[in-house]
Amino acid sequence: MAKDRYAWLFNGERFEDVRILDAATGAGGMTQKLARRAGGSTRIVSVDIDQDTRVLDSLQSSLQSPLTFIEDDLHQLQSVPDAAFDVVVCDDTLAFLSMPPLRTLSAIDTFHRVLKDGGRLLISAESPDESRHPTGEWRRWQLAKAVFALKGEAFYEPVHRNDLTRALARSGFHVEASQSFPGGMMKDFEPLIEEWEAILLHEIVHLPWGEGLKKTLHNTVVALSRSIRADGYLDTPDTFAVKAVKRGGRNV
Ligand SMILES: C[S@@+](CC[C@H](N)C(=O)[O-])C[C@H]1O[C@@H](n2cnc3c(N)ncnc32)[C@H](O)[C@@H]1O
Repeated sequence: MAKDRYAWLFNGERFEDVRILDAATGAGGMTQKLARRAGGSTRIVSVDIDQDTRVLDSLQSSLQSPLTFIEDDLHQLQSVPDAAFDVVVCDDTLAFLSMPPLRTLSAIDTFHRVLKDGGRLLISAESPDESRHPTGEWRRWQLAKAVFALKGEAFYEPVHRNDLTRALARSGFHVEASQSFPGGMMKDFEPLIEEWEAILLHEIVHLPWGEGLKKTLHNTVVALSRSIRADGYLDTPDTFAVKAVKRGGRNV
C-alpha cells in the first residue's frame, strides 16, 4: 500500500495528451506536481476564486508546461464550458467548498459538468479530526473555528470520506477506489504558526464582541502559539484520496 497519498492518487493515471483542471491553485503545490507529469499536448487550467499574483508569477516563471490560470468559483465555473476536461484534480480544497453544509454538492456537480464522459476526478482531502485529543494542532483549529463562528462565519469544514463517496455516486460518478492515510508530525511548522497567529489576532480585533472576550481570545492565541513552539512539532491531520470516473448519465 502506498504511504504517500499523492503516489496513490497518481498511480496508473495518464497525464499526457489530456486537458486537466487543477481545482484549486492555492499555493500551487498540486499545480507543480501536475506540470511535472504533463506531456505531449497536455494543457492545465488552474482555477482559484482568489488567485494570488505572487504565486502565479512564481509558477509561470518556473514551469514549462502549458498552464492557464483563471479566477472563478468552483461551485459554478461559469467561465468553463461543459465536457472541457479529461481530468479534474481537487487537492486540499474540499473543506473550503463545504460551507454552508450541502454546498459541496454544487462543486461536485460542477466537476461532473466540466468533465468529458469517462473523465477522471482525483480528490485528496483532509479528514475531519475526530480524535478530540487536545494537541496543539487540534486546539489551533478549534480556536480558529470559534473565532470565525463569533462573527457568524464558517472557517473550514473537512468532509468525511464516506459522505464524499456517497455524494459522488449521487452526482453520477463511479467511485473506483478510496484510501485513507494517517497523519504524522511536522517539525518545520514555524511559517504556519506565524501565519495562523497573525490571521487570528487580526480577526479578533474586528470581532463584534466585548473587549473582555477579545482580550481573552488574544491571550489564548498567543499562549497557544508559544506552547506549540515549546512542543517543537505539529500533528498533521489524517487525509484520504478518492478516484472517481464520470459515468454517462446522472444518477439523480
Ligand atoms: C488549501 S488551498 C489549495 C491548495 C492547493 N491545491 C495546493 O496544492 O497548494 C485552498 C484554495 O481554495 C480556494 N477556494 C476556496 N473556495 C473556493 C471556491 N469556491 N472556488 C474556487 N477556489 C476556492 C482558496 O482561495 C484557496 O486558495
